[in-house]
Amino acid sequence: MVKAHDPASGGDELVEFQCRRFALPQAGSKSGWKKGRDLRSIPRMGSSDIQSHPEESSGFFVMTRERYMKRTMNLAKKGRGKTSPNPMVGAVVVKNGEVVGTGYHQRFGELHAEANALRVCQDKARGASLYVNLEPCCHHGKTPPCTDMIIKSGIREVICATLDPNSQVNGRGIKALRDGGVEVHLGVLEEEAKKLNEVYMKFITTGLPFVMLKVAQTLDGKIATKLGDSKWITEEDSRRFVHSLRSSVDAVLVGANTVKRDDPELTIHNAGGEDPMRIILDSSGSIPHSSKIIRENKNGKTIIATTNRRTKEKFQEEVGVWNLKKGKDDRVDLAQLLKKAGENQITSLLVEGGSRVFTSFLKEKLVDKIYYFLSPKILGDGLGSFGDLGVRKIHESITFRDYEIKRFKNDLLVIGYPNWSSDTCVA
Ligand SMILES: NC(=O)c1ccc[n+]([C@@H]2O[C@H](COP(=O)([O-])OP(=O)(O)OC[C@H]3O[C@@H](n4cnc5c(N)ncnc54)[C@H](OP(=O)(O)O)[C@@H]3O)[C@@H](O)[C@H]2O)c1
Ligand SMILES: [Zn+2]
Repeated sequence: MVKAHDPASGGDELVEFQCRRFALPQAGSKSGWKKGRDLRSIPRMGSSDIQSHPEESSGFFVMTRERYMKRTMNLAKKGRGKTSPNPMVGAVVVKNGEVVGTGYHQRFGELHAEANALRVCQDKARGASLYVNLEPCCHHGKTPPCTDMIIKSGIREVICATLDPNSQVNGRGIKALRDGGVEVHLGVLEEEAKKLNEVYMKFITTGLPFVMLKVAQTLDGKIATKLGDSKWITEEDSRRFVHSLRSSVDAVLVGANTVKRDDPELTIHNAGGEDPMRIILDSSGSIPHSSKIIRENKNGKTIIATTNRRTKEKFQEEVGVWNLKKGKDDRVDLAQLLKKAGENQITSLLVEGGSRVFTSFLKEKLVDKIYYFLSPKILGDGLGSFGDLGVRKIHESITFRDYEIKRFKNDLLVIGYPNWSSDTCVA
């Protein structure tokens, strides 16, 4: 259970709520996620304020606020792939209808968005409005609390998209600002803001990484030929997108067979940014020393996840090894793997195959989001994207929501969220 100060009550009253999608797994619950009160049900100061001030309820006023909030999110996105385990945050300072300062959280450990924006506008902050896509922090982390800085700067009002579910903040930032005499409006473009930081929202409330599946399949549902060849199912521009997706996550993961068959590098190539960690599921330590991910262990970023102590002896000189317990079919226990990944500050994990690995993650309902490439090719006999998922009736099939469909030259990309995470606090 996550606790929040209720911003509408000035923060004195503690309100219990659960961010449904990212609620902590409860012992005995079938899906591992317990339903609870949605963040949306917390009254928003902004909405009641708007009702009480006729000029503020005008469409123009709302649009203006949303426009500035969009701008904070566009700024925040500049930090993608660099702020983990922190969220992406942008800030915009507006005075008399003019933007006098902007900033964003550029890199983990560096200044927060609010501090960067206030540094730009300096004295102009007095009496101005500060827009920010996440509740300002009120605790000492790597940097001092932003709330103190905002109060001292003389900012008149803070317009904030959503609460920070970090238990050290979670409404306390709003309360600190109000106690310091700053007017606060919460909830402008809230859903977009939660979606932007969906990775952070899950990690901070569960300690587990946000898991994304990336599948590249033919029209007839195959990810490789009969002989195991899968290079390349999609075209170059789709693959470029995957490289940039890799640059935005903390780790990518594949199964032992994919390494043995494809010998992938699992890097971002020329996408710009940093290569993610590379995790290989290899219960018995069967991948060869000559594999690229072993030989080219760039910045010590390769991890073999195994269930066999001898694997450690085999690879420990070259790469990192996590010796985990056996799960289904005597393979690596995925729940333990995710816990271990979280302990290592891996907030996002991109699962890239192959078929058995996709199947395990889906069967265990460990997927938060799917990136599904569909390429206009037919292979006939070949390796199906998924094995037996235990679905016997159509109504038992895994379904998705909140689709987004992108078109590359010839390929289609479907992005969606599996419905077991449908009781969501994002989107
Ligand atoms: N088009 C695409 O999107 C795409 C992407 C990737 C791969 N591929 C193709 O897929 C083929 C390989 O797929 P695959 O299904 O044969 O193998 P895979 O999924 O790459 O690897 C499966 C192996 O991983 C190990 N493993 C350990 N823990 C596991 C767990 N909890 N769940 C599942 N596996 C676990 C097991 O080997 P041990 O028992 O030895 O540990 C298992 O046999 C290749 O031909 C490759 O080219 C296509
Ligand atoms: Zn801060």
